[in-house]
Amino acid sequence: VGDVVLLDIYEGFAKGKALDMSQGGQVLNYDGRVTGTKDYADIADSDVVVVTSGFPRQPGMTREDLIGKNADIVSQVGEGIRQHAPNSIVVMVTNPLDLMTYHMQKVTGFEHSRVVGQAGILDSARMTHFIAQAVGCSNEDVQAMVLGGHGDTMVPLPRYTTVNGIPVSQLLSDEEVEAICKRTASGGGEIVKLLEKGSAFYAPGSAAAIMAEAILDDRKRVLPCSTYLSGEYGMDDIYIGVPVVLGRNGVERIIELELADDELDSLQGSGSFYKEQLSEILGY
Ligand code: 2OP
Repeated sequence: VGDVVLLDIYEGFAKGKALDMSQGGQVLNYDGRVTGTKDYADIADSDVVVVTSGFPRQPGMTREDLIGKNADIVSQVGEGIRQHAPNSIVVMVTNPLDLMTYHMQKVTGFEHSRVVGQAGILDSARMTHFIAQAVGCSNEDVQAMVLGGHGDTMVPLPRYTTVNGIPVSQLLSDEEVEAICKRTASGGGEIVKLLEKGSAFYAPGSAAAIMAEAILDDRKRVLPCSTYLSGEYGMDDIYIGVPVVLGRNGVERIIELELADDELDSLQGSGSFYKEQLSEILGY
């Protein structure tokens, strides 16, 4: 995708990972430079900054349990980005995702379209994977759609989920689809429980890379991302997952799907949950 600077408070960790990835580039034939640092000056003029900084969940924790600790970290990181990469597009990955994306926008003061959260691609990928397994087909043929906050209130949308254009309802029973929606919503927690230390890496990393690529190559991909709403879907002053067009300018358009009453209720319920957290815990 491009040259990558890995920044971590543990310089040796960043440098070691960078060296390992660079040598992986030799095997996989990619030429982008990967360097490690602990100095924000090294991210100068980055086009995209992907922020994963923060504590991961431990088994039994919700993402929201991380708010206090991770908000402090996001404040520091946001300040570094504001100073050294003032024209970048920020892709947030830190949890609790929608709240930390809101916080990052406030800290940097960037336009809302330039601060966006990665969650919908990951959640949709989880749903896609479970559907492909249940149908017995390739991942490539499944398109799933998951909206809402990246937490227990997320909103999988089976009505917008197809297998190469075939509505999923024609291939799986209502009970099977319902079970897949539930497993998708707790998909991150399932991995946290298995790992015991830390949370998922590969799927969130791949999802963030898809977003970076969409921005850098101006792909104008239609992807579910945590984005700032000002009236869309009947919600205001909140970051939450909805489909957007992602290109060189960040979020270039918000797509308003036609939702059934129960789908819209669930999406707005997810929004209300995060709105309460924003005011009660983060003081917005
Ligand atoms: C997940 O769902 C880490 O929130 C991320 O796996």
